[in-house]
Amino acid sequence: MQRRSFLKGAGVVTVVVAGGGVWRAYDQGVFSVGQGPAYEPWKDWRKDSNKEDGLLALVRAAILAASPHNTQPWLFKVTSSSIELYIDTKRNVGALDPYLREEHIGMGCALENLMLAAAANDYQANLTFFPGKLGPIPAEPAPELLAHIDLATGDLATGKREASELYDAIPRRHTNRGAYLPHKQIPPEFVEALSSLASNESDVKMFLFTSEADRKKIVEISSAANAEIYSDPEVERGSNRWIRIRWSEVQKFRDGLTIDAIGLPPIATAIGKMMPLWMLRWAASRGPKNGYSNLMLSASLIGIIAVRDRCDREHCLRAGRIWQRSHLLATARGLAGRPCNEAVEMIDHEKALEKPAKRAGLLAEVLGDAVWQPTFVFYMGYPTLTARASPRRPIEDVVV
Ligand SMILES: Cc1cc2nc3c(=O)[nH]c(=O)nc-3n(C[C@H](O)[C@H](O)[C@H](O)COP(=O)(O)O)c2cc1C
Repeated sequence: MQRRSFLKGAGVVTVVVAGGGVWRAYDQGVFSVGQGPAYEPWKDWRKDSNKEDGLLALVRAAILAASPHNTQPWLFKVTSSSIELYIDTKRNVGALDPYLREEHIGMGCALENLMLAAAANDYQANLTFFPGKLGPIPAEPAPELLAHIDLATGDLATGKREASELYDAIPRRHTNRGAYLPHKQIPPEFVEALSSLASNESDVKMFLFTSEADRKKIVEISSAANAEIYSDPEVERGSNRWIRIRWSEVQKFRDGLTIDAIGLPPIATAIGKMMPLWMLRWAASRGPKNGYSNLMLSASLIGIIAVRDRCDREHCLRAGRIWQRSHLLATARGLAGRPCNEAVEMIDHEKALEKPAKRAGLLAEVLGDAVWQPTFVFYMGYPTLTARASPRRPIEDVVV
């Protein structure tokens, strides 16, 4: 089942009669939203802040970051004074992300949480990136070192914890796929703060669009890209690997896209969770025709994070840091956000299939600036529903 169908599909589930009774509801976690081991990392993330366990506090924050399809491609090598960040390239979405560009952006998201946690826990952090260019998914995937962070305490540190609304927002940040309030305008101060998040970066630039005309243009490109990319069975296969329908799978694998995170109202979520897979597929195929476009347009702001070189590893990591930071800022200020990356995914898809670079051209027109290469598209606004947490693997699984 494709990501978008999965995510939008249960829009029609409310008309489907739920079968299977209370037992199925129980078995499928209808009464246990956000509960169980898969959700523990959201609750105990500050456990090690007393430093008894040293730098693990920083890893606990890092793993709550966003990642494509919730693949959580991160591994951490932790010593008493440093953390090394590795990408686990086997945790990929296949043809949907043929150069692991999005997985590297996810690594940047984790890095941002880690750096925020370092400052909040009174560490002085010195970050080094390992340069490199993106390439096709390795035939024999192995962890690759992306960054090294030296962390000093005591004399070298300031002695003060850094209060930070971004750090405090870490456990409340969730991708919100519900409808937004179209008429509730985002305050100009927020737009200003968002646009300045990348102002110290020389290789990353934030482009923000609030006018209806601009947003419509981007929505049209995204919606067409969405339809096209998921019509490729290889893409669908790569995506399906990360869709977790059964509650037992959610608790076992503790990753991937879940029904709870689709962004439906509670009753529809409950019904969706009780449906057998075939019925969910059927419901997904009957989602409203312009559902995705309408959803995107319900948000009052669309953003594009662009870099100088879309294939540069460090630029991907830096873009990921900016997305994580943006989403945390939105969370702290009562707004919601969601990536909507199909147009940029199509740039990679066209390149991998050696097709003409149609999407790169369309997005360059939107930016009006050929120097900057779009790498991440998102929308933000005031939500109608509170987003639910997605599962996370425990730190024992990601510390090597
Ligand atoms: C690089 C990247 C691309 C993503 N693309 C999409 C997307 O196109 N649509 C979407 O709904 N979510 C997208 N996401 C959000 C992830 O699915 C989400 O971060 C993950 O499921 C974990 O959930 P959380 O963000 O609520 O913690 C993307 C995230 C990242 C880091």
